[in-house]
Amino acid sequence: MMMMMSVGILDRYRSLYNLADDYPVVSLHEGSTPLIPAQRLAKCLRVEGLKVFLKYEGLNPTGSFKDRGMTYAVSQAKADGAEYVICASTGNTSAACAAYATRAGLKALVIIPEGKIALGKLSQALMYGATIVEISGNFDQALSIVRELGEMTPKLAVVNSINPYRIEGQKSGAWEICDDLGKAPDQFFIPVGNAGNITAYWRGFEQYKAIGKIDSLPQMFGYQAAGAAPLVLGHPIDNPETVATAIRIGKPASWDGAITAKTASGGQIDSVTDAEILSAYHCLARHEGVFCEPASAASVAGLFKAAAEGKLKPHATVVCILTGNGLKDPDNAIDVGMKGANRVALPPDRQAIASFLGL
Ligand code: F0G
Repeated sequence: MMMMMSVGILDRYRSLYNLADDYPVVSLHEGSTPLIPAQRLAKCLRVEGLKVFLKYEGLNPTGSFKDRGMTYAVSQAKADGAEYVICASTGNTSAACAAYATRAGLKALVIIPEGKIALGKLSQALMYGATIVEISGNFDQALSIVRELGEMTPKLAVVNSINPYRIEGQKSGAWEICDDLGKAPDQFFIPVGNAGNITAYWRGFEQYKAIGKIDSLPQMFGYQAAGAAPLVLGHPIDNPETVATAIRIGKPASWDGAITAKTASGGQIDSVTDAEILSAYHCLARHEGVFCEPASAASVAGLFKAAAEGKLKPHATVVCILTGNGLKDPDNAIDVGMKGANRVALPPDRQAIASFLGL
């Protein structure tokens, strides 16, 4: 029997990326994540013939979609002879940056907002051996410092999504969805923070249409957290706040890309409250067995909101992106999971457990 080896996104889509044979691909075999049907969720929405799929990006090697862009950005940094890769991050980018830098034999430097990084993400950056700078400021301030540092020397390669290779790599998510469905989704839901991912998906769909792989484009629905919703308000904000720390961003770098995706697709960028985010987060785990992190659930919170507003089309095929793994954020998981949990402490005794179970 022939063994099927997994490959990363640069090898899977090598011809679309137009890579030279000797291109130094740095990969952890990211991508090829599952597109999981969510029938219970679809039923809850009460829209005739609706099909809902969850693209579970939490199953990437470092547990988030960032790996798709990081494989390309770090490969290119290596090709360009950089010594360090550097990023600002709300957590997931720092984890991916640290892992791929190590894999490439480069040093990683990550700048993060002190006290606002989910525990799992911090543990990843520590384990992969990045140099971690915690600033008493937010992501937007960290990113502006990283931009300035990147301009100081070519030894430092900035691997935030202002690096075009990040966006290029993340387009692969759109291609995988179309390959799995055999067509483009009709409606597409995604969390929005720095806005690189919505930009990448839209460009990915457009490119697939341009080369004849799909014949329609999805309507793009992006969701920010209500306390961190500059794109909805129409202006940057100084002090973003949300329980979904991954998208606690007030000045999205890919502002124009997000607006293009919305406008060109006839979609929208809206906000969802922290309560709506946490409720979708809990619902996905309890009813679909899919555990994502809070920011990821903004896409599904948005789906519920769009359903209530009558914006879902009967018989539509809908895809929601779940950007990161639930294990990234144990604190929120335990807080939310405790609600209605069946959890009890008992002595190590068969009889005690049997009577608790009513046997
Ligand atoms: N979901 C998760 C889990 C994220 O980590 C991020 C961004 C987003 C959604 C939003 O994606 O920025 O492309 O609009 N996290 C970045 C980071 C900012 O530093 O890890 P976006």
